[in-house]
Amino acid sequence: MRVLIGSTPDEVARIAAENVLAGLARHGAGADPVLGLATGSSPLGLYRELARAVQEERADFSQAQGFALDEYIGIPDTHEQSYRQTLVNEVCNTIGLPAQSLHVPQGMAESVEAIEEAARDYDASIAQAGGIQVQILGIGSNGHLGFNEPGSALRSRTRIKRLAANTREDNARFFDGIEHVPTHCVTQGLGTILDAGRLVLVAIGAGKADAIAAAVEGPISASCPGSVLQLHQDAVVVVDEAAAAGLKLREYYDDAAEELTIVDIAVH
Ligand code: F6R
Repeated sequence: MRVLIGSTPDEVARIAAENVLAGLARHGAGADPVLGLATGSSPLGLYRELARAVQEERADFSQAQGFALDEYIGIPDTHEQSYRQTLVNEVCNTIGLPAQSLHVPQGMAESVEAIEEAARDYDASIAQAGGIQVQILGIGSNGHLGFNEPGSALRSRTRIKRLAANTREDNARFFDGIEHVPTHCVTQGLGTILDAGRLVLVAIGAGKADAIAAAVEGPISASCPGSVLQLHQDAVVVVDEAAAAGLKLREYYDDAAEELTIVDIAVH
């Protein structure tokens, strides 16, 4: 795992975007980009930087496929707080990913069974696209990844989950009161997330410090779903100073962030 610490949210956004582009180059092998997309406030700066890279012709998402991490159950696609709508506004319209190439788990259907079946099909559609090359992630203050709340199976696949009470409280700011926050969602599973070529997780602010410390340096445990990052071969965690505050190995991360040069190799 690489842990990269930016001094400001803008620097975090720039570092994260460069790691997304490098991850696509590394795991895309010349194919069209396949991106996993998180909603929430953490990756907004990263999406802005990707949009800048498109303007500067360093990136092109016109042929890309995007796979959302999760979707609420029970609110229509057209609802302004649906994750489809949010990603169309915040990602498709800024980085030029065609809205018809945005895949989102199905949160509305005639029955629970139909939602479950669509969730299984979602994993199949990721595989059909050749797998997610780079998965963008945030982390909940309770350590959740996607909506895999504490207690989630470490090898879970896309499925229905109950939202934790504190997640509903955190997300009430987007709705007219907590009673309007859905109780359930469909989320990529932790096993689904681990299948991506590279994971780029962004966290900003003191409210994420405990979750980041537990995910990066704590035991691998369903109690902190973010700790599955430790099982991934190419996970990059990009945080600001406040979110890094609980990390014990800070000095090592700073040393390791320096590029290996030919001089280093000659010295040893
Ligand atoms: C978003 C998602 C969540 C968020 C997390 C952090 O699709 O699945 O895991 O990444 O709740 O949210 P923010 O970034 O708003 O603090």
